[in-house]
Amino acid sequence: MDKQTVKSVAWENGTLYLLDQTQLPTDVVVEEQQSVKQVWDSIKKLKVRGAPAIGVAGAYGLAVAMRDKISLDRESFLAEMQDNASYLDSSRPTAVNLSWALNRVVKTVRAHSAKSGRELYDVLVAEAEAIHAEDVELCRRIGEHGVSLISDGMGILTHCNAGRLATSDYGTATAPMYLAHERGVSFTVYSDESRPLLQGSRLTAWELQAAGVDVYTITDNMAAAMMQQGLINIVIVGTDRVAANGDVANKIGTLGVAILASYFKIPFYVATPFSTIDLATTSGSQIVIEERGEDEVTHFGMRRTAPEGIKVRNPAFDVTPNALVTGFITDRGIIRPPYRDTLKAAFGN
Ligand code: MRU
Repeated sequence: MDKQTVKSVAWENGTLYLLDQTQLPTDVVVEEQQSVKQVWDSIKKLKVRGAPAIGVAGAYGLAVAMRDKISLDRESFLAEMQDNASYLDSSRPTAVNLSWALNRVVKTVRAHSAKSGRELYDVLVAEAEAIHAEDVELCRRIGEHGVSLISDGMGILTHCNAGRLATSDYGTATAPMYLAHERGVSFTVYSDESRPLLQGSRLTAWELQAAGVDVYTITDNMAAAMMQQGLINIVIVGTDRVAANGDVANKIGTLGVAILASYFKIPFYVATPFSTIDLATTSGSQIVIEERGEDEVTHFGMRRTAPEGIKVRNPAFDVTPNALVTGFITDRGIIRPPYRDTLKAAFGN
């Protein structure tokens, strides 16, 4: 399968396909999703992951849940759809795109006057397809707005995977990189491996390498040294949820990178589509941070790397305070502080 064209999420003739990202970088495996339970599991196990991609997968997951319910009348169809939306939403809590996409689909279907399950199902699928197509466009625009931040000779640090694989295409943090690369700008990316699940080395390094971008993979604890050596000129990361005051939830370790960037006076940018900006959450302290299983920390691959019975913490995300964010690269332009005002002005419609 062609590395550059394989998509994280695909909907073809009423069937949902998800790339199993847990098998990268060694195996490219695409799985047909047979049931809503399977979609829930694929999100929970990070087969599909990254905030925009789980939003799109969740929307199509609702279609998978409802495709054999088309004989229901309107009220029964709507009730079933609501139950399944709540179920899918329970798979992961931090990335707002999941609940955003599910709520959007549910709202659109409810607002439609159709009486039959058949017609309501078509409305549901059309909205999921709209979210999917829109996500490609949003990422493309993030690239357009962010590309001028990248110039010849730059070193760029990124954390986790906010790339094509985390979205429907282009990525968020990577969109300006892909566009700069297309335009012949020569730069180097340092991709933090992003313990414990290595989205940086398994996914970001994989997709940037496939696109011909100059990329190094580094362990998380090397970022400070790279900055000290003057190799990093800008940090660009993605996000799972931006609060109204500009606090940023992203993959665990992002906070440390932001503090380092501040110490070394390196600009720290967060790339995000409007669908990840949650103005209903006033500050980062309100964001629910997913705690994941112990095995991700006590094992490296199949091998145990911590003693039996050891106590473990495994928060999957952290919150970077708005004061450390130089700017948000969004589909509507680059947003600068004071974020409580500027985010509301740009996204509070
Ligand atoms: O646990 P993951 O792999 O879903 O975490 C993903 C991230 O933290 C990404 O940086 C974020 O979702 C932005 S994706 C454009």
